[in-house]
Amino acid sequence: MSITKEQVIDALKYVDDPDLKKDLITLGMVKDVEVDGKNVSFTVVLTTPACPMKDMIQKACENAILHFVDKEAIVKVNMTANVPTQKKNDASSLSGVKNIVAIASGKGGVGKSTITANLAIALAKMGAKVGLVDADVYGPSMPMMFDALHERPYVKEIDGKNMIIPVESYGVKLLSIGFFADMAQAVAWRGPIATRALQQLFSDAYWGELDYMLIDLPPGTGDIHISLTTAVPLTGALIVTTPQQVAIADARKGMAFFRNQHVNVPVLGIAENMSWFTPAELPENKYYIFGEGGAQQLADEFDVPVLGQIPLVQSIREAADAGRPAVLQDTTPQAIAFMDLAANLVRQIAIQNSRPKEAAVSQ
Ligand SMILES: Nc1ncnc2c1ncn2[C@@H]1O[C@H](COP(=O)(O)OP(=O)(O)OP(=O)(O)O)[C@@H](O)[C@H]1O
Ligand SMILES: [Mg+2]
Repeated sequence: MSITKEQVIDALKYVDDPDLKKDLITLGMVKDVEVDGKNVSFTVVLTTPACPMKDMIQKACENAILHFVDKEAIVKVNMTANVPTQKKNDASSLSGVKNIVAIASGKGGVGKSTITANLAIALAKMGAKVGLVDADVYGPSMPMMFDALHERPYVKEIDGKNMIIPVESYGVKLLSIGFFADMAQAVAWRGPIATRALQQLFSDAYWGELDYMLIDLPPGTGDIHISLTTAVPLTGALIVTTPQQVAIADARKGMAFFRNQHVNVPVLGIAENMSWFTPAELPENKYYIFGEGGAQQLADEFDVPVLGQIPLVQSIREAADAGRPAVLQDTTPQAIAFMDLAANLVRQIAIQNSRPKEAAVSQ
C-alpha cells in the first residue's frame, strides 16, 4: 500500500513541540508534505533558527513516520525557521523587527552590557538576524565591546528619507550614541536630549529585517526606561542580576517597573551574572563569593524562569575590554554558558509569542 499525505499528517500529530506543548500539526509547523512511493518529505518550520531542540524534533518526526505509517519509509525532514512576532506590522522603521527585548537591571555594574553583547553574538552564531541598540546614553559601552570604537554609521537616502545605517560587527547590527558623540559629551546629556537622541536610533535608522533586537539599558528605572517602553513595542525584558542581596533588591524594583500596569512589559526571565568565581588556573572550582541562589529566589517570587548563570571569570572582562566578547571563544565554559542563556531566551520568546496577546501583556 502506498503512503498518503493524510497518514503523514496524522503521524506528525504525535510529535509535540517540547516548549509550546502542542503537536506540530496543531501549531501549523509542518509544510510541504510530499509523498512518492516510500519517499516521504516535509518541512518543519521552527520558531527560531536558534532552536536548541532542533535535532530532537527532527528525530521525533522521522520516528513517528516509521512507527505510525511505514517502517520502510525513507523520510527526509527539512528544518527551517520563521521567528514569530506579536507586533502589528506598522509602518515605522521597526516594522521588519520581529522581537525587541530590553536588557535591564536595577543595580549598576551587574553585567547588563557584557551579557547583551554576548547574547547578541550568540544569537547571530545560531543563525538569527540580530540587532543591538546601546541605550546607555550616559555611558555607552558597545562600541568598545564590539571593537568598533572608530566606526561611524553612515547615512543613506532610503525612500526619500535620510536613514542611519547601523555598524556591523560579529554578525550583529549595532547602533550606539557612542558612535555620534564623544563619550565625555554623551555622559553630560540629561533628560530630554538623551531620550531624543535615543529615539532617533530607532526612528531614523534602517534596521531592515531582524529576528531579534536587543536593547542594552542603563541601570535603574529612569527617563530612558520610561521613554523606551512608550516608544518601542517591546516583546519583553530580561533582568540581569548578581546573586548578591543588594543586587537582588534592586532587580526586584526593575521587575516591578516592567510589571507596572502602565508599563506592562512581560518579564521573560532572569540572567544571573557572576554566579560563582572560577580562577583560570582552577577551572573546575566554583567559589560563591556573592552568595548562592539569589536569582532563583527572585524568579520564584515573580514566577519567571532563571534563563542562565554566567560565572565570574577574568577572561570575560578581558574579552569585553579587548572588543572580542567571550562567547567567541567557542568551547570554553563561559562561551557555553552564554550560548545556553541565548537558547533559553529564544525559547522563552517563542513561548511568549504563542500566548494570546491579552495573556501576554498581563503575564
Ligand atoms: N561574568 C563576568 N566575569 C568577569 N567580569 C565581568 C563579568 N560580567 C561583567 N564583568 C565586568 O564587570 C564590569 C561591569 O560589567 P558591565 O559593564 O557589563 O555591567 P553593566 O551592568 O552594563 O554596568 P552599567 O550599569 O554601568 O551599565 C565590566 O568591566 C565587565 O567586563
Ligand atoms: Mg552597561
